[in-house]
Amino acid sequence: MKKLILDVDTGIDDAMALAYSTGTKEIELIGVVGTYGNVNISQAVQNSLNILGMIGKTDVPVYEGASHAMSKSSFTPSEAGKKIHGQNGVGGVDLPQAERTKENESGIDFIINSVKKYGKDLVIAATGSMTNLGIVLKNYPEMAKEIGQIVIMGGALTVPGNVSPFAEANISQDPEAAKLLFESETPIIMVGLDVTMRSILTQEDTQRWRKVSKAGKDYADMVDYYIHVHDETAPAINGCPLHDPAAIAAVIHPEFFDMLPLAMTVETEGPSVGRTIGITDKIREKAPNVKVCINVKERAVAEDMCNVMATLYANVK
Ligand code: BDR
Ligand code: CA
Repeated sequence: MKKLILDVDTGIDDAMALAYSTGTKEIELIGVVGTYGNVNISQAVQNSLNILGMIGKTDVPVYEGASHAMSKSSFTPSEAGKKIHGQNGVGGVDLPQAERTKENESGIDFIINSVKKYGKDLVIAATGSMTNLGIVLKNYPEMAKEIGQIVIMGGALTVPGNVSPFAEANISQDPEAAKLLFESETPIIMVGLDVTMRSILTQEDTQRWRKVSKAGKDYADMVDYYIHVHDETAPAINGCPLHDPAAIAAVIHPEFFDMLPLAMTVETEGPSVGRTIGITDKIREKAPNVKVCINVKERAVAEDMCNVMATLYANVK
């Protein structure tokens, strides 16, 4: 069975991706690495530990990754991030404090050691900034050829960004790291706003979770917070986008998506900083390293995730 590492800035949709990935039979989650983004690094790590504890997955270790972008010396969560995910990143819900604590090994070393150990059997799903992967590539460039697959939630090819007309949030946190990743030979599936804004979860879905267990109710409280924020900021979608869960779906159900093979880069300066775009000189490349998800079967991600989560919630009280 393939092994999965989740590289997350645990806000609400990362929390859904965590549950989704632990509940699938197709892949084994071997570890979680925290990054900054929706919240700062220590909160992201604690949220991941709390979420895993809450769904009874206490055997999964959590590691601390980078605390800020490669070209910066610090990180402060944005007001927009606090609004979308709540001050604590999980919609203000008071989750039970996990008994397990973070690992001593750094998230960067854990990724490098896992690449060496599992090679092509390893998949990394990155649903926060690309900083950890950028640092790994600097320290261990062999990752590009040795790893099985990296799936990122990030970027936008056919639609505007969500933090600027050009940039999506995860790419915009560290455009240099994302550029390094795209321009390496790493096999990448890009799950960007092109498909995540078409993968919608509604309050009818979360309503069903409430009745199942305490974990189901806590998840419903978190996600309802996220849905209400989107009622204000994006009323047309009638629910919330499944950004990070869509990256998990692309790992286990690539058939949900239409993917465009394309050599990609990231703009790192000027008004369109953070834009993910094809490389003109490589437009005719036969087997580029990136596949960009440009369409998705409507409701496929929501339905699959909800099925997985219903079983998961039913097994924890
Ligand atoms: C991405 O940014 C973060 O706020 C979300 O968790 C998601 O990974 C969406 O642009
Ligand atoms: Ca995220």
